[in-house]
Amino acid sequence: MAPTYSWIQSTDSTNRAQSRFGRTLIDMSITDRPTTSRAKEAVSVFAWVDRQHQLLAETHDLLLLRPDQKTISRCRYLAHQIQKGCRQQPVGLLAALQLNRNAQFQHVKELYCGVLAELIGVKCNLAPASRLSMICAALTQDIGMLDLQDDRLDRQSLALTEQQLRQIKKHPIDGIKILAQAGVDDRIWLTIVERHHERLDGKGYPHRLDEEQIDMGTRIMTLVDNFVAMARPRGDRPAMMPPKILQQIFLKRGDQIDPRLAKVLIELLGLKPPGCWVQLANGETAVVVRPGSHNAFPVVASVVGPDGEHYEQAIERDSSERRFTIVDCVAAPFHFNLRQLLEQLWPRLEI
Ligand SMILES: [Fe+2]
Repeated sequence: MAPTYSWIQSTDSTNRAQSRFGRTLIDMSITDRPTTSRAKEAVSVFAWVDRQHQLLAETHDLLLLRPDQKTISRCRYLAHQIQKGCRQQPVGLLAALQLNRNAQFQHVKELYCGVLAELIGVKCNLAPASRLSMICAALTQDIGMLDLQDDRLDRQSLALTEQQLRQIKKHPIDGIKILAQAGVDDRIWLTIVERHHERLDGKGYPHRLDEEQIDMGTRIMTLVDNFVAMARPRGDRPAMMPPKILQQIFLKRGDQIDPRLAKVLIELLGLKPPGCWVQLANGETAVVVRPGSHNAFPVVASVVGPDGEHYEQAIERDSSERRFTIVDCVAAPFHFNLRQLLEQLWPRLEI
């Protein structure tokens, strides 16, 4: 399959080409069990994201069409891959996910949530096995309403219909039914899927749980779900800029977001996360590459000059220098060779 990565907004045709029912079970059986023959292959962070998207799309298809232990093994394999990727290249993966604008919404969101949940879980000293269950929950949290996502809910600018609202309200319960049917008996995994829309103020769904009934894994999932939802474009608004998202997360502390976890997220990403597009004082457009010597001054790479000229190579800049000070966050620039240009900025990782 051709790479699905792109630097522009997705088109319906792209998404339909990946539609879950556009492939047959025979097609999918080829990749039922991901091979280990590529174990030593090194790929760019963007190719890694493409690959995991594809695996996740296939896993969702199989969960709906043929829920069994083999499918659950695929999901755990994918979670292991995410843990391995996060150990090798956490900053590069965050950048690649932030930059991604093309893959089908559901898979972008769930993969992004899985990576963020793993990195926050590490910072909170959660055991690897618990983090693995949490990643599996991130990847399957909305399995109970995938058909709704196929209707491009994220692109819908009209108000939700009564039927859509009903389906959304019950998708955590429908989700755990599908997972249980497939043989999932992991309590952490099932609990997070069932509770990922509960809120600390008791106004969540489906059970309107109180704060003390909401476990750490669920709190992490709520946090990353909120972040990723705002980082992605919707029918009624474009993607929000990362500083605005972090501000919103800060404002939701206590009601929806655990304040301690909000602090962990902000420490993890910084105010200008990797993959965030910025304008520099000298007029260049640059992408945030990694944290710098100080949290407020990340290392960035310029790709478009002050007069709109396309650079042939990305040029790293230290944003603590006055002429390269970040003056604003901006939308992704057009550049005829953007992916190839940026691929050089983050080390490759093994799959
Ligand atoms: Fe959900």
